[in-house]
Order: sequence, then C-alpha cells, then structure tokens
Amino acid sequence: MTAPDVPTTVLTSPASQTGPRKTTPRKRVVRAAASDPREALLALRTEVAKAVIGQDATVTGLVIALLCRGHVLLEGVPGVAKTLLVRAVAASLSLESKRVQFTPDLMPGDITGSLVYDARTAAFSFREGPVFTNLLLADEINRTPPKTQASLLEAMEERQVSVDGVGRPLPDPFVVCATQNPIEYEGTYPLPEAQLDRFLLKLTVPLPGRDDEMRVLEAHHAGFDPRDLSQLQPVASAADLAAGRAQVSGLTVAPEVLGYIVDICRATRTSPSLQLGASPRGATALLATSKAWAWLSGRDYVTPDDVKALARPTLRHRIALRPEAELEGATTDGVLDSVLASVPVPR
Ligand SMILES: Nc1ncnc2c1ncn2[C@@H]1O[C@H](COP(=O)(O)OP(=O)(O)O)[C@@H](O)[C@H]1O
Ligand SMILES: [Mg+2]
Repeated sequence: MTAPDVPTTVLTSPASQTGPRKTTPRKRVVRAAASDPREALLALRTEVAKAVIGQDATVTGLVIALLCRGHVLLEGVPGVAKTLLVRAVAASLSLESKRVQFTPDLMPGDITGSLVYDARTAAFSFREGPVFTNLLLADEINRTPPKTQASLLEAMEERQVSVDGVGRPLPDPFVVCATQNPIEYEGTYPLPEAQLDRFLLKLTVPLPGRDDEMRVLEAHHAGFDPRDLSQLQPVASAADLAAGRAQVSGLTVAPEVLGYIVDICRATRTSPSLQLGASPRGATALLATSKAWAWLSGRDYVTPDDVKALARPTLRHRIALRPEAELEGATTDGVLDSVLASVPVPR
C-alpha cells in the first residue's frame, strides 16, 4: 500500500538551489527522477512535450502502457506526429529502442530475425531481428501484408521468437508502439480483428486544435527540427518502470470498483449495437490501465472516474459493431459512451 508522496518539482535537489553553478544539470534530473518512479514518469511527459506540442492524452496513454508493460496502437491520419511522439518517448527513456518502417515488401524475418549460414563454422546461427529491443516503434504497421504483421503479433503475445524450434525470449521490458492510418486508407492491410486485443491500448491521435497548431508552426518557424531530438534527455529508466509497476500493484481497488469494471464489460456483451463485446481479458486490461492512471494521478486507490477515463482506449479495439449499427453511423467510441452512461456508477 504505497502512497507515492511526491515532492512538487524534480529540480529541488539542494545542488540545484545553490545558484548557477555550471555543472551538468541533466544528470541531476536523471538521478532525482530515478529516486521516485512517479516523478520520473511525469518528467517523461514534460520531456516529450519539448518536441511534441499538445497530444497530452496520447503521451499519458504511452506512459500507462509502459507501466503496464503493454503494447499500444496509435491511430490517426498522416501528419499528426504519431511517429514523432514515439521517437520522442524513446529519446526520453534510457531504454534501447528500434524503429521499423512497415512496408509492403517487408518479410517476417525482417522483424524477428533469421538463421544465417556461417561458412567458417559451417553452421547456422541466429541473427536477431529488430524485435529484440525494449521499445519497438512499428511504424505504419498496416502497410505490410498479414504474414509479416502476424510475426510481430506473435512476438508481442508470446514475448519470444521461435525459429527452428528454439524459443528465444525477448528483452524485458518489451513494448511495441505501433502506428497505423485509419483503415480506409488505400494500400493498407487491416490488422486481424481477433488479434487486436494484443494491444493493451488503442490511442486515437487527433488533429490539433487551432492554438496547438499555431504553436507547432511557431516552433518550426523558430527552427525546431523534428529529425533532431538530441535536446531530449533520458529522464526515466527500466528501473523506474519496474519500481512504478510495483507501486501500481499495491493500489487499493474497492470491490465496488471491480464490480463496475465487470459491469461495463458485461454491458458491452449485451449491447444491441455490438456483435462482439469485451472479453474478461478486456476487463483485466481495464483494471490494469485504471490502476496505472490512478497511480500516475498521485492516488493509492482507484475511482470509478479512473475506469471511465480509460474505458475507451482500453476497450475500443476489443469490441466490434454489428454491420447494421455501422451502416447507421454508430462508432465504437459512441457505443462505449452509451454503455458508460447506462452502467450505474458505484459511489
Ligand atoms: N503536435 C505536434 N507537435 C510538433 N510537431 C508536429 C505536431 N504535429 C505535427 N508536427 C509536425 O509534423 C510532422 C509530421 O509528424 P509525423 O510524426 O511524421 O506524423 P505521422 O507519423 O502521424 O504521419 C512532425 O515531424 C512535425 O514536424
Ligand atoms: Mg508516421
């Protein structure tokens, strides 16, 4: 039952108060942040915001996924900074990360790795693919054919790669951040619906509001170069994520709140607009994301509002509309909203 009692700022270590000594302030930030995992993860959001303007909800979603060791699918039209976001998160973490651009000609072995023949030893040895990393940016995942998608989805589920009968475990943490354009785009292969629940969260990256878009332009006008993220420093580590996760697991969840999660998921199963409701796996995912969010918000207990806040991104890809409902213009988010409105909230 750890109540993370968080000091207000990261930079209040005695050293930083002794005036403008020109040492390496960024090292102090790293150390101060590492001593408190919640602060480190909040600092991560601030760091990402140096490159990405707005999109706070998406950044928070990424942090929640990292805490839960879950994979994320980011969906949005081209040009809303999906790639930039994940690159910025990677640059702000002291984790190994790799990026794969999913193209139509990418082969499964280009993701997982393959056996290569070594003439000197006259034997095959395994050459690891980019999936052997902590944070994998799987960019434009729906531009690659199903066979290659399947190799990634399998690695995501099993956290290992099997080649030639040998299972090779992936590093820990192993988190995939995949991006995709909305499926109606030409030349895309929709991800298999039945496997979408391998993603803990599906985040919808919106177009920015006018003010945010103005700030994007101002930053570019002032010389911001999205290719160069060297101004971002690693402010959180795998140890912070592990420590955060341990604190999250100690959170209190009242039986009424557990019941609320179950009732929401059950209601999706009887919704007349849905042909597929959320499974018990979806319910456990909603519990995990709600706990992570409660902890990030500085509480040691989960409220029904936490559950409500995470219901859409956690469940939207785990439910399927009936064709009739779709024809009538229903959306999964709309249906989830009416489900949330219909389920009594515990108090
Ligand atoms: N919210 C934002 N903050 C900063 N730059 C942005 C933002 N949205 C768009 N941009 C600019 O647009 C570019 C396109 O972003 P990118 O990550 O390639 O988009 P996507 O992957 O969604 O197609 C960025 O590199 C950046 O120059
Ligand atoms: Mg992109």
